[in-house]
Amino acid sequence: MAETVRSIQRRFPGKETLEGAGVRLRRAFSNPEVALLDPFLLLDNFGSNNPADYCAGFPWHPHRGIETVTYMLSGEVEHGDTLGNQGTIGAGDLQWMRSGGGIVHQEMPQQTEGELRGFQLWLNMPARSKMDPPAYHDVRAPNIPKVDGDNGQEVKVVAGSYAGVEGPIHHAVTRPEYLDVRLPPGSSFSHPVSSGRTVFATVISGSGTLDGSGAAVRKGETVLFGDGGKVAATPGADGLRFLLVSGTPLHEPIAWYGPIVMNTQREIATALSELRKGDFLKHREVEVEG
Ligand code: CO
Repeated sequence: MAETVRSIQRRFPGKETLEGAGVRLRRAFSNPEVALLDPFLLLDNFGSNNPADYCAGFPWHPHRGIETVTYMLSGEVEHGDTLGNQGTIGAGDLQWMRSGGGIVHQEMPQQTEGELRGFQLWLNMPARSKMDPPAYHDVRAPNIPKVDGDNGQEVKVVAGSYAGVEGPIHHAVTRPEYLDVRLPPGSSFSHPVSSGRTVFATVISGSGTLDGSGAAVRKGETVLFGDGGKVAATPGADGLRFLLVSGTPLHEPIAWYGPIVMNTQREIATALSELRKGDFLKHREVEVEG
């Protein structure tokens, strides 16, 4: 299968969703699609010029059993968590968070006008790691490597590797690959992804094709690829920008309650009871990973 171009198997237009304290966003996939996207749990695409859509933010809430990658395209979000991390991420910046056994954090927009745009991806954690200590790492835009192609292509390597260049997020247990690909009109893109890995793409802007079928993809759409050996893309007349994300499936049972994702309902009940009793957080020490 090494040379087989992966074809689009499913398309997700995204669903308008209210999240946090009333943030309007587009949810590409979540619980109903989780069996198809293992090890990915959820992808939120937030993007608006209207402060009423984002100002309420995501006040203090718990997580257990997952990792999140937040990638900002524009605007600024301040985060704070129970590890003592506090800071602001802006356009082009990245934030990786491992909830492990438990973290409580908040994510609040730092602007009252203008555009706020970005993505938050949830990665499942394997059963053996779900109760690991939480951790956090943020990466400024200039520290995300960019690979320039011969025909003006630009690939930012958020995680994994592209053309031998490694991305800065290498902490995630499931070893995802996460690329931000920009193709000018008339260029092309091809990238090997080992057979067996789950691969999806989300179109940020422009138009074009993401498989050999010639079927056009649209801005805002997320597509899941069938198995194969590589992903091939061709931009339309206005160019094409998309995220290309892959990971190795965990093939484990999933028990999901809001921000807590475990393997069994019993573990969910334990987490909820710990939240009520106030002993949800198992690790309070500050951990900094480079
Ligand atoms: Co959160």
